[in-house]
Amino acid sequence: MTARLSLDAICKHYGKDDNSVTALAEITFSLNAGEFLAIEGPSGSGKSTLLNICGLIDAPDSGCYYFNGKPLNQLSARERCAYRRREIGFIFQRHQLIPAMTVYENIAYPLLLNGERPQQIRHEVEQLLTQMGLEQRRQQLPQQLSGGERQRVGIARALIKRPQLVIADEPSASLDHQHAHTGLQLMRELNRQYGASFLIASHDPFVINHCDRKISLLDGRIEATA
Ligand SMILES: Nc1ncnc2c1ncn2[C@@H]1O[C@H](COP(=O)(O)OP(=O)(O)OP(=O)(O)O)[C@@H](O)[C@H]1O
Ligand SMILES: [Mg+2]
Repeated sequence: MTARLSLDAICKHYGKDDNSVTALAEITFSLNAGEFLAIEGPSGSGKSTLLNICGLIDAPDSGCYYFNGKPLNQLSARERCAYRRREIGFIFQRHQLIPAMTVYENIAYPLLLNGERPQQIRHEVEQLLTQMGLEQRRQQLPQQLSGGERQRVGIARALIKRPQLVIADEPSASLDHQHAHTGLQLMRELNRQYGASFLIASHDPFVINHCDRKISLLDGRIEATA
């Protein structure tokens, strides 16, 4: 079986010469189709750097990586952007919703960018609003929502285009335990329903223990896998 995402000796440095920081050193692992994988590690261990590379937001300095067997190193900036829009959904710690857009518009936005038909967009958004328990919130702005509601909008926005890969950077960090639990359950449900692969960076033992497998980072290296 071809891995959904596969990394081979990925390295990333920030800064130059004496001030250079090694954020990732020789990272090698694969994420399978439908897998729910945790990336754990202390602050500064390289989790966000790794997720940004896997999500095509940033590029490695060296090493090779592949998406469904296709090499990502050789993509042009335009292809990289197209890939990201089509195949990858992001869930951020601070949700990063667009403040001037309603809940409905925030969730619909990735489909608008992809040029979907209005009727199709309405259908998909309504379905996710119901699934996320956000039907009553559709016309509200992000600032009018609770933290847990914002997270659910963030999850819905990441999943609306049915991406093959979902990347979540500390999705529970700004939430209480109950909301973190609900958010995680929804991600799991959608993982099982659509078969999307998840890559989740977290410090939270509750989140990590609910994943299929975990990779532990320390100082930019893989310290352990379990
Ligand atoms: N833009 C940047 N410029 C310079 N150094 C950076 C930059 N981004 C990250 N780093 C450094 O790279 C290393 C890895 O950072 P990264 O943000 O990936 O860690 P993290 O595991 O996500 O930490 P946290 O748990 O605090 O979010 C750290 O030493 C950090 O200071
Ligand atoms: Mg981070």
